[in-house]
Amino acid sequence: MRAIVIYATCEGQTERIAKRCADVMRRAGVATDTYDVTRNDVAELAVESFDAVMLGSSLHYAEHDPRIAWCIREHRQQLASIPTAFFSVSLGIISEHAKDRAEAEWLADEFLHDQSFNPTRRACFAGALRYSKYGWLKKRLMRWIAEKSGSKTVTTQDYEYTDWNAVNAFATDFTALLIGNTTERLQSTLAS
Ligand SMILES: Cc1cc2nc3c(=O)[nH]c(=O)nc-3n(C[C@H](O)[C@H](O)[C@H](O)COP(=O)(O)O)c2cc1C
Repeated sequence: MRAIVIYATCEGQTERIAKRCADVMRRAGVATDTYDVTRNDVAELAVESFDAVMLGSSLHYAEHDPRIAWCIREHRQQLASIPTAFFSVSLGIISEHAKDRAEAEWLADEFLHDQSFNPTRRACFAGALRYSKYGWLKKRLMRWIAEKSGSKTVTTQDYEYTDWNAVNAFATDFTALLIGNTTERLQSTLAS
């Protein structure tokens, strides 16, 4: 069994989540690679050499990364025949407004629907506000968005909102499926 976590990231939060998922999978005995389509050419990735695929993308300006969309479309037949997972990373998902949270879920569903992709597992995770990585304009924009959604607006520091327990649980659940174990049993094996 060989698995891969393919991801697109701008400021690194999706990468952190992808690497955490890969770590969980490896600790459970699944040989797992990671591939950043932001830094590497997605067309060069031999997706067909993997038995399970997890894909992740952050949301920017209400869009998931087009390279992840391309990868899904290009490998649609294979992805339909193996265990797959998809996760979306956004800030809308932890907004204090229910409408924003629902929109973040909807954008993930629409993205999957647009690629005719029905992953075996799917999740939406909260990302991060990395003010230190934004330029002047982006910093102002993100501060404005943060203010509207009830997130932190002090731009001299970064904020991480990712629920790592939820990420661990998602990766454990997917891995349990791959190795034919129950999520509960695998959870206790990984904890010991
Ligand atoms: C320029 C910009 C635009 C963003 N647009 C959205 C958005 O439309 N909806 C949303 O929920 N989050 C949005 N976010 C929040 C990101 O999804 C969040 O910061 C995430 O952690 C980014 O992950 P990454 O570092 O892997 O790219 C935006 C962030 C930035 C910097």
